[in-house]
Amino acid sequence: MGQDSLYGISRRGLLGASLALAACHPPARSQPVADLPPLKSLAPFPVGAAVQAVHLTDPALAALIASNASQLTPEWEMKMEYIVRDDGTFRFDAPDAIAAFARANGQRLFGHTLVWYAQTSPAFERLDERRVTFADAYRNYIHAVMSRYRGIATGWDVVNEPIAENGDGWRDSLWSRRLGDFDHIALAYRHAREADPQAALFINDYNLEWIPQKRTSFLRLVERMLNAGVPLDGVGTQTHIDAGLSPGELTRTIRDLAQFGLPVHVSEFDVSISRASNLLSHRAELERAQAALYGEAAEAFMALPARQRYAFTFWGLRDGESWLRREDASDTPAPFDAEGRPKPGARAWAERVG
Ligand code: XIL
Repeated sequence: MGQDSLYGISRRGLLGASLALAACHPPARSQPVADLPPLKSLAPFPVGAAVQAVHLTDPALAALIASNASQLTPEWEMKMEYIVRDDGTFRFDAPDAIAAFARANGQRLFGHTLVWYAQTSPAFERLDERRVTFADAYRNYIHAVMSRYRGIATGWDVVNEPIAENGDGWRDSLWSRRLGDFDHIALAYRHAREADPQAALFINDYNLEWIPQKRTSFLRLVERMLNAGVPLDGVGTQTHIDAGLSPGELTRTIRDLAQFGLPVHVSEFDVSISRASNLLSHRAELERAQAALYGEAAEAFMALPARQRYAFTFWGLRDGESWLRREDASDTPAPFDAEGRPKPGARAWAERVG
């Protein structure tokens, strides 16, 4: 048997647990942040941060991540686009490095994401189906990735962004076209449960605050999964919002998501200023609104029963590394500025959770 790939996984690959996390990361030095205690020391729930392997090589950023976050989500390198090479084989160097950092710093690892319409791999698009069926390659992928991090990743976004952009029905994807709208989702969760029975399996989507129809469709899907006995352990709301979001929408969204009694993950929190700047508001006004939304998010999350507060994850701790800077280099959506100093949003958040 050649290298593990979409075409087949060795027993060793399935055993996964042989992954010896190289202790390549000495615990990062924690630098107390000016006058704000580490966020994770304030919150009665896990505080997450999205990271890339390169972020962990920057001592100042690594220290900020180690001192403030109790959970890490790989921002990109645990996605199919990174893991699956064009020949269908797998690479795990970067996610292994993130897993090692998390272990060295006593942090949880949250897997993101196994099945997504975006950032897929050409290897799947042009699968040689004389060698493996599409359904088996789908299963091989989920098993290979989850087995490698079995007992290391405490939870996973198994399916990401299943609902159509405008909220009307299913998101079209290679997976829904080949395996069925609902079936590709049910299959993914069943494979995931098989691959790592201990991992918490989440479903994740965005704009649930902005588009009520999308929130409704997402909740209906969750209900359908639960009624069909699909193994689902939690719901994730990305919460990529901007400073123009009306007060109260976030609170309504988090309350609605909690209706099934499942743990809720605010999974990719950031509050864009640039995306709101078409409003005739001054930047200072937008920054005040941003801080208020940080506060509202914390308050709404704290209002959940403790057992439903899975984690609150920031999609990047510092403005400088934010994915939104690709859209607008002047955007400042994160809790800490480019120098790692806490912003009014971080304070507002800290006041509500502490
Ligand atoms: C983004 C990352 O931040 C970028 O670095 C990457 O290039 C593209 O993906 N919803 C998701 C995340 O579920 O995985 C996306 O992350 C942002 C939107």
